[in-house]
Amino acid sequence: GIVSTTPMLKRAKANKHGVVAFNVHSFDSIFWVLEAAADLRSPVILQTTVGTVKALGAKNIVEVARVASEHFQVPTGLHLDHCTDYRVIKEAIRAGYSSVMIDASMYPFEENVARTNEVMALAQSLEVNVEAELGKVGGVEEDIVVAEEDAKKAVPEECKRFVELTGVPTLAPAIGTAHGIYKGKPNIDFKRIARIAELVDVPLVLHGGSAVPDEDIRRCVSLGMAKVNVSTELKNAYSAAIRDHFASHPNSLDPRAYLQKAKEAAIEMAKAKIRLVGSENTV
Ligand code: 13P
Ligand code: ZN
Ligand code: NA
Repeated sequence: GIVSTTPMLKRAKANKHGVVAFNVHSFDSIFWVLEAAADLRSPVILQTTVGTVKALGAKNIVEVARVASEHFQVPTGLHLDHCTDYRVIKEAIRAGYSSVMIDASMYPFEENVARTNEVMALAQSLEVNVEAELGKVGGVEEDIVVAEEDAKKAVPEECKRFVELTGVPTLAPAIGTAHGIYKGKPNIDFKRIARIAELVDVPLVLHGGSAVPDEDIRRCVSLGMAKVNVSTELKNAYSAAIRDHFASHPNSLDPRAYLQKAKEAAIEMAKAKIRLVGSENTV
């Protein structure tokens, strides 16, 4: 069933592997990701943006995720990604999400602390994981658009203070990755990650996991970034499979035909990412 991601990520960090958090955008993709995780005997996190909650409904997402995780017998976290709105966080928790991100990274430090504490008060007694962001991750993640010049890396001493002041069980420090596919290579600040990991105990979250070279992902995980977010590469993989299907079968009308190709592409991509973070055969 749906489990809290707090113990899942703590265990991953202690065992020096990561857990992939895949953004899902449809009910089908929930089944695809969980099938990939089940095949590899790996825990996994499903995450949805606020846009997906609005499109599909929090309750529906929870129900489908629960049915799929029971069907595939795989430990599954269900996380609300990049949420700036307390009301949506409350709605997701009520519906049964096991983890939420309060993204107040656009506010000054003290306000980020205050907004995170508001969510902690709601989530803590329910064993719902809370993720907060420090610094600012660049790129485009749906309605959250951060230009390159506005992206800001997290300050290690602030990370320490932030965790002390909020007690958040997971922290997403901006360390040089960006959402989406990069123009060049990401310039990841490994020294900064190491320093942050020295100062705070909680599992760290790597945002912008798509298009990061494999060796860089491995290095981030080894430094304590236990939750690795992947959205764009998964979505692109199965969207391209559907596009290719229609390019060669322009008159295709059977959804099972193109969704089967989407499924195969999604599972292949999900498995590659799961293997990359080292969570294969850990359940
Ligand atoms: P990518 O789209 O680069 O994989 O980023 C995903 C992410 O960080 C979701 O929060
Ligand atoms: Zn993100
Ligand atoms: Na990215």
